[in-house]
Formats: sequence, structure tokens, C-alpha cells
Amino acid sequence: MIVDMGMHITPATTADFHRVLTDHPRYWGERDLRSLHLQALVQEFGSTCLVARAEDGIRGYVFGFVTPDGTGYVHLIATRDDARGTGLGRRLYAEFAAAAERHGARRLKAITSVQNTGSIAFHRSLGFDAEIVDDYNGPGRTMAVFHRDLPLDVPRP
Ligand SMILES: CC(C)(COP(=O)(O)OP(=O)(O)OC[C@H]1O[C@@H](n2cnc3c(N)ncnc32)[C@H](O)[C@@H]1OP(=O)(O)O)[C@@H](O)C(=O)NCCC(=O)NCCS
Repeated sequence: MIVDMGMHITPATTADFHRVLTDHPRYWGERDLRSLHLQALVQEFGSTCLVARAEDGIRGYVFGFVTPDGTGYVHLIATRDDARGTGLGRRLYAEFAAAAERHGARRLKAITSVQNTGSIAFHRSLGFDAEIVDDYNGPGRTMAVFHRDLPLDVPRP
């Protein structure tokens, strides 16, 4: 378990982007999601692509953007294997939500595979509704789709 000393959540740089790709298994284990890591997100949506930076490197990151209809869409969120269960994922979401609200977002959305039960539990803990959507990613590709309203810090009834 890591100790939280001097950690800062800041916009991701291009160097950060390449660092998390190099260390991909530390964040995603055996799943290879490198092709979903798009440099364009960091270049064009820099204020909603954030890393948690500490003296021992990048402990987690969230890459997302705000859609024209006011949805803060989280494309990727991951915390490093030694940083899990410390509240970092929640902190990254809070920072993303604040940044998204500054850009006019009124709600949050994310998706994950139906097999990713950890992600589903994580999003439910953050107050998201989870909906199973058949064919979301094409024929036979069912996904879990998460929604919740902003602000993130107000508990849902
Ligand atoms: C999902 C992930 C980002 C969670 O990050 P984390 O830093 O461990 O999450 P936190 O410590 O902030 O936990 C926040 C809440 O979610 C819950 N939670 C997190 N992971 C969970 C899991 N695997 N199972 C059950 N609950 C979980 C925590 O218990 C906590 O609940 P609480 O605050 O009500 O006690 C992290 O496990 C991860 O990086 N997984 C691999 C990448 C991935 O699958 N990303 C999501 C798909 S886009």
C-alpha cells in the first residue's frame, strides 16, 4: 500500500500519456487497452485528461471530454496496482467532474464491459446508475453504461 505524500492531480502531458502506455499492465493488468488510449484526447481535451502525480510516478489517470450536449464522458479511468482501494479513483472522478462542470457538463457518463465487475461496483459506489445495453459496441457486444447527474459531491436520494 502506498503512502499519500505530495500527490497532485493535474492535466496530463504528452510525456504522461506515453508513460502510462509504457506501464500499461500496472493499470490494466492482463487486459490490453492500449488501442483505446488516444493521443488526440490529451491534445484536444487537455483540461479533462488528468493524472495523479506523485514522487513515485503516475498513480492513476482519467481521460475524458465534455460532449456538446453537456455530458462529461469518461473514456478511461485507472489507478495503479499499488494505489487501489485508497480512494484515488474517487478523487480522480471528483477532479474530472469539477473540470467537466467548468466546461458546461451537467451529467456524467461512462461505459465498461459487463465482465468488469470491479468497474461496475466502483461506479455504483460513486452513485452511477448502471444499465446493461445490448449491442452497444456492435452486434453481440453488450456493455454496461453508467449515468449520473452533476455535481458529484451531492448524495443521490
Ligand atoms: C476501477 C478502479 C479505477 C477503482 O479505483 P480505486 O482507486 O481502487 O477506487 P477507490 O479506492 O476510489 O474506491 C471508490 C469506491 O469504489 C469501490 N470499489 C472500487 N473498486 C472496487 C471493486 N473492485 N469492487 C468493489 N468495490 C470497488 C470502493 O470500495 C469505494 O467504495 P466506498 O468509497 O463506498 O467505500 C481501479 O480498480 C482500476 O484501475 N481498475 C482497472 C482499470 C479499470 O477497470 N477501470 C475502469 C474501466 S474504464
